[in-house]
Amino acid sequence: MRAYDLIDKKKNGKSLNKEEIDFLINGFVSGEVADYQMAAWAMAVCFQGMSMEEIGNLTVSMAKSGEIIDLSAIEGCKVDKHSTGGVGDKTTLVIGPIVASQGVKVAKMSGRGLGHTGGTLDKLEAIPGVRTTLSDREFIEIVNTVGICVAGQTKNLVPADQKLYALRDVTATVDNIPLIASSIMSKKLASGSDAILLDVKTGSGAFMKTREDAKELAEIMVEIGRKAGKKMAALVTDMDVPLGLTIGNALEVREAIDTLMGRGPEDFTDVCLELAANMLFLAEKGSTDQCMRLAKEAVSSGKALDTFARMVKAQGGDEAVVREPSLLPGACYTMKVKAPKAGYVEHMDTQGCGLAAVLLGAGRDKKEDQVQADAGIVLRRKTGDRVEKGETLAVLHTSCEERLQAAHDRLLACYRIGPVCPPVGPHILEYIS
Ligand code: URA
Repeated sequence: MRAYDLIDKKKNGKSLNKEEIDFLINGFVSGEVADYQMAAWAMAVCFQGMSMEEIGNLTVSMAKSGEIIDLSAIEGCKVDKHSTGGVGDKTTLVIGPIVASQGVKVAKMSGRGLGHTGGTLDKLEAIPGVRTTLSDREFIEIVNTVGICVAGQTKNLVPADQKLYALRDVTATVDNIPLIASSIMSKKLASGSDAILLDVKTGSGAFMKTREDAKELAEIMVEIGRKAGKKMAALVTDMDVPLGLTIGNALEVREAIDTLMGRGPEDFTDVCLELAANMLFLAEKGSTDQCMRLAKEAVSSGKALDTFARMVKAQGGDEAVVREPSLLPGACYTMKVKAPKAGYVEHMDTQGCGLAAVLLGAGRDKKEDQVQADAGIVLRRKTGDRVEKGETLAVLHTSCEERLQAAHDRLLACYRIGPVCPPVGPHILEYIS
């Protein structure tokens, strides 16, 4: 078999079989298939697509390229959740504790922010002392004792995806549904949970800009997971507007704590409760209505907040922060972004909002950049809100004063203010189960 022939086959619109996919993936990981060959194949996929069988085979081949995490030492049903990423998406910090506090184990491997999207690990590390690099033993022990642990992926989890993603990133081959589906699902299959809930985001702040593409991605991922023996469900949720009122690590942790205390923003609270109820449903905790009641009760009783505090402590963090969020790092400088005219916020460029937060130091341009825990944005107005000339649209936070002006200009350009009050749609757009 030669990589050349397989690239040529894909270029001509034919499907590769399991042995051929295994040959490409194994060869790529071992170095026998060159980066430029893999990049040419990825581009051929972008133009020719892949059959469902090919996507399934690619996913399994990538999942098997490294360690498959064995969670059998954790009792009971283990439920995982994956979001395709967005702006202000701090759902894991709320949903995980809700679900765990109702007796379902959450062994969560999370990632860091890249580009305009934030990452759960960066948010969690805004809490002084929290460690997200844990040994397998520590990880399993915390899940067994607290019910939840959120840690970083080990180096050996799906090395094929680590290499392929880096290549896609620089060859304009990221935004392809079969490649995204296999990338996400290979990591989920290797992470060892029994059931997986997918939160596929759509809108101006998401990878999937249209609802149709988001639905297609969700359906493909659900089918891959089912074929691999996992219990699966997916929601398509709105990311046309930032989720909640904060963007940036410590600010988002604070909002997550507020939400666990029952006083979070409405859109964020709704999405969290819906996702948590669906995870509880996958774990067979009752009907959808019963699971929604369980999710709400976890918040109103304080059980979810308590579980979050115990997780923070078990991961080395200062649990006092959970009772007293003012202990979180705060920025030295703030700047208001004011409305240049009166009207309604007709639209927000949510990806641009995420990039403005990166300019403040909340995210990274390159993988090796350090994030500033205290940097970010507090939104005072979002799509659908009325605003008067000179009123504050948002407040910028950073500890690097020189970053403020560029972020100000970037964020202001994200707001379209006009005479029309736009319809504000539902936060949950599709259920796929
Ligand atoms: N997230 C992933 O893990 N992989 C992709 O390809 C896109 C988003």
